[in-house]
Amino acid sequence: MKAVYYGHSCVELQVGGTTILFDPFISPNPKAAHIDIGQLKPDYILLSHGHEDHVADVAAIQQGSKAKVLAVVETAAWVGRQNVPQEDIIAFNFGGTIQTDFGTVKMVYALHTNGTPDGQYGGQPAGYVLQTGGKKIYFAGDTALTLEMKLLEPLGLDWAFLPIGGHYTMDVDDAVTASRFINCTDIVGIHYNTFPPITIDKEAAKGKFAAAGRTLHLPDIGEALEL
Ligand code: NI
Ligand code: MN
Repeated sequence: MKAVYYGHSCVELQVGGTTILFDPFISPNPKAAHIDIGQLKPDYILLSHGHEDHVADVAAIQQGSKAKVLAVVETAAWVGRQNVPQEDIIAFNFGGTIQTDFGTVKMVYALHTNGTPDGQYGGQPAGYVLQTGGKKIYFAGDTALTLEMKLLEPLGLDWAFLPIGGHYTMDVDDAVTASRFINCTDIVGIHYNTFPPITIDKEAAKGKFAAAGRTLHLPDIGEALEL
């Protein structure tokens, strides 16, 4: 299984012949200017919530790929208002597990806020746990540190994508604590260095995770990681 980082919280998982894209925010991100969204052909797009820095490219990428879009009910309703056909939208909610041809997707808690770019209520923000390709993967979305993460501990997560930039989400120190709560050693950092308030020192961050017996992976934008 491969993960490709497209900047901010946008990650693509490639499992067998299936491609899963999280939180597409590429064309407005100057740091991802070398990524051509026309080349992205996901089979599924998973949205953690409706904030612009997670959904900016969802309509364009969906139009070019006919991907199924998964989101919490109210954010999914916004996707529907972007001319994405209803049959391509899977709206669900916390506790729900969607069976797909690549495995399962469960919606889990995230501690954050949510609204959609048109100013409407976006429902609750969410994270996802995927069981696919023999691995268990947690994509946290935008979240603060929360005790709810301890509910994921018994799963035996192989990889976790955690926000580390602070200001709008967990910072590096809280993400280290989160990695203990979920008992996961391989962490991929997301939601950092895109905007001035979420700037981090990458080497210092890696050092803090290493001191906790964990590995923080920080791929360059466009770089692939073997999971
Ligand atoms: Ni957000
Ligand atoms: Mn965000």
